[in-house]
Amino acid sequence: MVVAIDGPAGAGKSTVGRGVARALGYRYLDSGALYRAVALALIEDGGAPAERARAARVDVGDRVKLDGRDVTELIRGPEVSELASKIASMGEVREALLVRQRELVADGDWVAEGRDIGTVVAPEAELKIFLTASPEARAHRRAQELGADWRTVLHDQAIRDAQDSERAHSPLRPAPDAIELDSTDRPAEDVIAQVVGLVREAQRR
Ligand code: DC
Repeated sequence: MVVAIDGPAGAGKSTVGRGVARALGYRYLDSGALYRAVALALIEDGGAPAERARAARVDVGDRVKLDGRDVTELIRGPEVSELASKIASMGEVREALLVRQRELVADGDWVAEGRDIGTVVAPEAELKIFLTASPEARAHRRAQELGADWRTVLHDQAIRDAQDSERAHSPLRPAPDAIELDSTDRPAEDVIAQVVGLVREAQRR
């Protein structure tokens, strides 16, 4: 079974995805970590994005590893966020990372989160969630995580939202059969419980 959770940055995909995976004993794929790890590799070593995406050995378990090195914290910085969004608009980079994501979710039960899981990576997913929240709520959450000023986060977020939604390759948009949930003003546990309920319903179908 694959549960796809897509949506913009700060909507709560990671918290909800991890919570649902834990509640059900499923594995969890943070697909954004793949784009981030490749962006970090480019910042550190340069090179052509598509080549680096094909060559990078990225392990996205509990800790994120790039060619064997733990980069879990390093990939969360603003410079990496910005470059990850840029290279995520490149068709060849997406192709390279798509192969890896499909290999991962091919076996077993997964909660996979990102921007194009329900539309491109796993269009056959048994349950697709499109998780949103107001731009202000998303910026507040990210600012708290990063210890940054929320207005700065709101500004950067608007640029990334536009880049992620308007790109030609796999833009951020809900799959036609996705269930849209709005997490504004809702505690994470509440959304997690709702998604777990939806998974149980999907299992009965
Ligand atoms: O979810 P995140 O912020 O860690 O994702 C980092 C960047 O990668 C983000 O700008 C969008 C991109 N991304 C994508 O294009 N497709 C995915 N499935 C996951 C992330």
